[in-house]
Amino acid sequence: MSDNTNIAAPVGLPKLGAPAPQFEAITTHGTLRLEDYSGSWLILFSHPADFTPVCTTEFIGFAKIYPELKKLNCELLGLSIDSVYAHIAWVRNIEEKLNVKIPFPVIADLDRKVANLYGMVSMAESKTETSRCVFVIDDKQNIRAMIYYPLTTGRNMDEILRLITALQTSDAKGVATPANWKPGDMVIIPPPLTIEAAEERVKTKGIEITDWYLSKKSL
Ligand code: BEZ
Repeated sequence: MSDNTNIAAPVGLPKLGAPAPQFEAITTHGTLRLEDYSGSWLILFSHPADFTPVCTTEFIGFAKIYPELKKLNCELLGLSIDSVYAHIAWVRNIEEKLNVKIPFPVIADLDRKVANLYGMVSMAESKTETSRCVFVIDDKQNIRAMIYYPLTTGRNMDEILRLITALQTSDAKGVATPANWKPGDMVIIPPPLTIEAAEERVKTKGIEITDWYLSKKSL
């Protein structure tokens, strides 16, 4: 009989807006804790397995957007249910074969402690691998966005950059962002909450008003 005593049990999914579950983990950059990232934004992402093709393209993608993320005060932290030795061998292989240095740490989550805290293993998809999850954690360590992709489909790095930029824009300016928004586009002014405010809104100059509940402005 196998001994599963060191395998952490699933504890459910994190919640948007809630504090991100705290952890301490072994990574390719030494032992790290979530609290080490307090004060900066963090993309905590999982991949199914080292030395697999889609994951390799994603690692290259994450490495390429890393300088842009740094400008947004955002760090990257990868994770899979692989050993630190496998991670080291894989990132060295990516550098050797594809000439891309992986600048961010990768958690070796062999006991699934972090994967289970964040609901990264979808048993119906794979019992042994983490799905392609992305958790955007803000500088106050709250979960701000979650993306789950299946094993077969590599993630879109432009969308991840767009998402961080949109969240930070909303925080800084008190606005929302419309579908397909990108930096430089108009933003949505939160809709009025009273009849009086709605009447004021439709009379406001200098903004684009479709109706009282849908108005936009340039930043
Ligand atoms: C991949 O990264 O190519 C991959 C990993 C796990 C399952 C399927 C594809």
